[in-house]
Amino acid sequence: MNSAPIEAAALTYTDDGVPFSARYRDIYHPRAGALTQARHVFIHGNGLPGRWQGRERFVVLETGFGLGNNFLATWQAWRDDPQRCARLVFISVEAHPLSRDELARAHARSALPELAGELQRAWPPPTSNLHTLDFDAGRVRLLLAFGDVQAWLPELVASVDAFYLDGFAPASNPRMWDQRVCKALSRLATPGATLATWSAAQALRQHLRTAGFEVTLGQGTGGKRDITLARFAPAFAPRRAPARTAARAEVEPRALIIGAGLAGCAAAWALAEQGWRSTLFERHSQIAAEASGNPAGLFHGIVNAQDGVHARFNRAAALRARQAVQVALDVHGVAGAVNGLLRLESAASPAGMRAMLRALGLPGDYVQALDADEASARGGIALRQAAWFYPGGGWADPAGLARAWLERAAPQAELRCGTEIHALQRSDTGWRLLDAAGRTLDEAPTIVFANAGAALPLLGRPDWPIDRVRGQISTLPAAALALPLIPVAGAGYLLPELGGGRAMFGATAQRGDDDASVRADDHRTNLDQLAQLIGHPIDADPAAMLGRTAWRWSAVDRLPLIGAVPDPDAPALRLDQPRFVPRVPGLFVFMALGSRGITWSALGAQLLASWISGAPAPVEASLIDAVDPARFVSRRARRSTAS
Ligand SMILES: Cc1cc2nc3c(=O)[nH]c(=O)nc-3n(C[C@H](O)[C@H](O)[C@H](O)COP(=O)(O)OP(=O)(O)OC[C@H]3O[C@@H](n4cnc5c(N)ncnc54)[C@H](O)[C@@H]3O)c2cc1C
Ligand SMILES: C[S@@+](CC[C@H](N)C(=O)[O-])C[C@H]1O[C@@H](n2cnc3c(N)ncnc32)[C@H](O)[C@@H]1O
Repeated sequence: MNSAPIEAAALTYTDDGVPFSARYRDIYHPRAGALTQARHVFIHGNGLPGRWQGRERFVVLETGFGLGNNFLATWQAWRDDPQRCARLVFISVEAHPLSRDELARAHARSALPELAGELQRAWPPPTSNLHTLDFDAGRVRLLLAFGDVQAWLPELVASVDAFYLDGFAPASNPRMWDQRVCKALSRLATPGATLATWSAAQALRQHLRTAGFEVTLGQGTGGKRDITLARFAPAFAPRRAPARTAARAEVEPRALIIGAGLAGCAAAWALAEQGWRSTLFERHSQIAAEASGNPAGLFHGIVNAQDGVHARFNRAAALRARQAVQVALDVHGVAGAVNGLLRLESAASPAGMRAMLRALGLPGDYVQALDADEASARGGIALRQAAWFYPGGGWADPAGLARAWLERAAPQAELRCGTEIHALQRSDTGWRLLDAAGRTLDEAPTIVFANAGAALPLLGRPDWPIDRVRGQISTLPAAALALPLIPVAGAGYLLPELGGGRAMFGATAQRGDDDASVRADDHRTNLDQLAQLIGHPIDADPAAMLGRTAWRWSAVDRLPLIGAVPDPDAPALRLDQPRFVPRVPGLFVFMALGSRGITWSALGAQLLASWISGAPAPVEASLIDAVDPARFVSRRARRSTAS
């Protein structure tokens, strides 16, 4: 997807105080009031609240988030309705997001001050991502797509029940209303989906009809005689890619998860958010005993000159991790901090780094370019290099995070430690998990492999291009060196003081090394890396140092594997794109989290849960393709067509 830098809103006010866009020369809402329009046109026009009553999930998609008044009114209507749906998902696309301060000013006299305040506090940095904002314990989820409507609609993966069309007037804002938009809406619409908009433009009504909507006029408000109402009733059902069709409603909402590290525990939480129950099987006597068992690890975004899928996925994940780790710290008492991270830069100058940020349009609340002095001031120790500063980065205890995910999943998740899965077998209802003696441990239609590389033999897929890399971290008494205030990363990393008066740094990276012991030689390697990082050697005896060894599993393209297990032998019309590759029913993987399990686990788990449950995906289609385990099948298919 084209990720053009976000252009800020040009919000001003008319003399009588109505919000006005200098860019589009139009008001944001009628003088009669935003909430009056929201309730009459969008909420009642879509048959709400009646249509969401008794439903597990109801999905609204809006074009033009603007000041968020339609969202606030819908959220309030949901709160006020005793028969409301269990989960409300509100997706909105906005090309020119307001700043947090502008939003606060626009809501200064809101009739919904409590909700407006919550929205302001959750307001994300203006990056071209799909931002997830959770309210009311996650039962109201706002997915905010920052960028152009025509770039975003084809990238959304969702089944939408109601559409709100709320661009500026078609004459000044034609991109929000044209045939391409209406066609893209029809691809997202569930059968019977409704649509409402204040515009009664002839051309719009014609575009909607062509896209499969039945269109009527409704009574207008705020000086408008008519509004447009529509219902999706296409003559032919639109074809959807097999891998992107929502889970069948009749499937029992229960999953068996193999592995209770960061991936498995996050999966249990994300599934619980969608109303699913799960049972986790862990071969050790406790959770997070393998890769996820280090005393601490860091998390942060990345910057690439090309804002390709790596940069976009890592940014989306880092933004999600920032929120999720903060909750783990505040509510679940996990050790860590979300107060920024420095990543040293050796290739580019501070001026070059700033130019790159300008070209990419990345905001300062996501990343900043610092020279060595600024970096030293931030880090609280002398640093000799320029650095990227990620304000939303930090460090956390991964086992604590895994525990926090499970606590968030309770009571919908059951944990069975000391239980190793040795095989799986098809059964009448789905899949059976077997122990070493071939006894059935449990049975369900949906299985999640969150057991890192140990999934490959169970799945019978030893050929998947993922590999394991040994890593050893080192620790010293905190008094042995000057520690930074926030994590510093480069070639290796150094964390701020951990609980218990320890300093931690590392880590080695060794392919093809199966030695589980903690080695003095590796401490020496870590001390050398540390000396590079902080500019001077530390006097420590490697033979007397403590550490820990584990393995990270990574795919060749350094992205995780998240999604349904491909079945390349099943008949298929095409394999060149992951979304067309057939899948083994009921089998999913969440693995190969590499060195980024803390950054990736929250977003990755939500993507997995959306795939399993049919909830709107928290990332765009091109990122789903980028982490889809079927991408390797597609690459092979494209290579064989090309040769
Ligand atoms: C040295 C080192 C430093 C790192 N530093 C960082 C860092 O700073 N930041 C960061 O984000 N990440 C870091 N990582 C990476 C991070 O730890 C991993 O990405 C993450 O822990 C992977 O989580 P996981 O749940 O996929 O795997 P694991 O934590 O390995 O969990 C898999 C679980 O599956 C269980 N299992 C396997 N097979 C079976 C079976 N058949 N039946 C039942 N249970 C089974 C295992 O016992 C294990 O508990 C580091 C990793 C290492 C090794
Ligand atoms: C009338 S306002 C929306 C008001 C909003 N729904 C509310 O409740 O406050 C129209 C919005 O559409 C946005 N917009 C205009 N062109 C766009 C485009 N091409 N893609 C996405 N959003 C766009 C504008 O920035 C503006 O915020």
